Amino acid sequence: MVLEKVINKNMKKDKIAIIGLGYVGLPLARLFATKFSVVGFDINTDRISELMSGIDSTLEVDNETLQSVLVNENSDSNGLFCTNPLEEIKDCNYYIITVPTPVDKNNRPILTPLIKASKTVGNVLKNGDIVIYESTVYPGATEEDCVPVLEKVSGLKFNKDFYAGYSPERINPGDKEHTVEKILKVTSGSTPQIGEKVNDLYKSVITGGTHLAPTIKVAEASKVIENSQRDINIAFVNELAKIFNLLGINTHDVLEAAGTKWNFLPFKPGLVGGHCIGVDPYYLAQKAQENGYHPEIILAGRRLNDGMGDYVASEIVKCMIKKNIPVNGSKVLILGITFKENCPDVRNTKAVDLIEALKDYGTDLTIHDPWADENEVFKEYGLFSKKEIPDGKFNAIVLTVAHNEFKEINFSKIKDNNSIIYDVKNFLDKSLADKTL
Ligand SMILES: NC(=O)c1ccc[n+]([C@@H]2O[C@H](COP(=O)([O-])OP(=O)(O)OC[C@H]3O[C@@H](n4cnc5c(N)ncnc54)[C@H](O)[C@@H]3O)[C@@H](O)[C@H]2O)c1
Repeated sequence: MVLEKVINKNMKKDKIAIIGLGYVGLPLARLFATKFSVVGFDINTDRISELMSGIDSTLEVDNETLQSVLVNENSDSNGLFCTNPLEEIKDCNYYIITVPTPVDKNNRPILTPLIKASKTVGNVLKNGDIVIYESTVYPGATEEDCVPVLEKVSGLKFNKDFYAGYSPERINPGDKEHTVEKILKVTSGSTPQIGEKVNDLYKSVITGGTHLAPTIKVAEASKVIENSQRDINIAFVNELAKIFNLLGINTHDVLEAAGTKWNFLPFKPGLVGGHCIGVDPYYLAQKAQENGYHPEIILAGRRLNDGMGDYVASEIVKCMIKKNIPVNGSKVLILGITFKENCPDVRNTKAVDLIEALKDYGTDLTIHDPWADENEVFKEYGLFSKKEIPDGKFNAIVLTVAHNEFKEINFSKIKDNNSIIYDVKNFLDKSLADKTL
């Protein structure tokens, strides 16, 4: 009994560093901080200041919840301390990496943030530490691309001195129902024992449960196919939309009818943007190609979805011509520039493809999005987005994203008798829209 007490006193509590405090890292850091001492680390010092002042501009963690876990100093007590100097994470024993994994302009994976974050962790790695990756990657990236960096920088030996894990994130930005703790999480480790440890770590905070995958590669592959499957399914309904438009049938009516069968999958047509569904299939495709297989279905889905901006623009222009609206110089209002509904994220938004295509037709565009940060839109795309709809009438109004606020718009104020409304998301009342995708 006495001995047990001494051992417990001398055993250091687990301390977790989260590397990268974005859409994925911050909610995870907040959750772990309810039961552990967590140090949030990010290269973006503005982000650190914002978080330490109790504000999350991504809106994934509400200010009150964030403030309830924030602590003012880095200690071993439960709570979240966000910081930047490397020094601050050196006494952690779990390092969880949640940095971006984008693609370049040729759709090839960019592993630079992942490699840089691995170098950061390599500098503070100690015997017994476990490095867990959460970023979406292709199968093999953790053990073949990241672990060698950890070994090189730290001088330690993998699976002897330190270990790795992979646990893909499944959060859905803007979704307040499926939050990080409620989503069943896949876990894995570089040895069976480490797999159990990683699984136990997540099980201690994830109420939705965990699934321990047999290897890291299996866990990596499971994540990348989840998003590839969605991409292919959306590409299929986008193709259906093109066919049914030619046939003069409303796609949504068809999907509603087909959806009455128990095993018909409820996917909807639309612009596939963001940094998951539109990006992850390229990671899988790259790995397949490196291994001598040229994916057909995966890349066909990507091609189809990437072409939807141009397609929707041409449909809008056809509608305008049919109503004798001169396209060149016409006033067009775009409702929504974020990549999805009720969320401020504008990265890789495909609304921009549609905007560029409409600009090519000579239209005079106004962009309204109550969620998007105007400065970020300008910085990323050189476009002006407005939080309010300016006064005046528009020849065409195009809804690209189903933000709840758009249900409240008084369309009679911004259109005249001959204006058209094109509803990409089939979100507005049927009587309002001239056409849907
Ligand atoms: N956002 C999602 O919906 C979502 C869902 C599941 C998985 N993922 C995956 O999770 C990963 C992270 O995505 P995200 O949306 O949170 O990205 P994000 O851009 O919102 O956040 C990444 C953060 O990492 C920081 N960062 C970049 N390089 C760093 C480095 N070397 N060291 C420390 N910090 C660094 C950035 O400053 C940023 O704050 C990606 O692989 C993504 O594919 C995202």
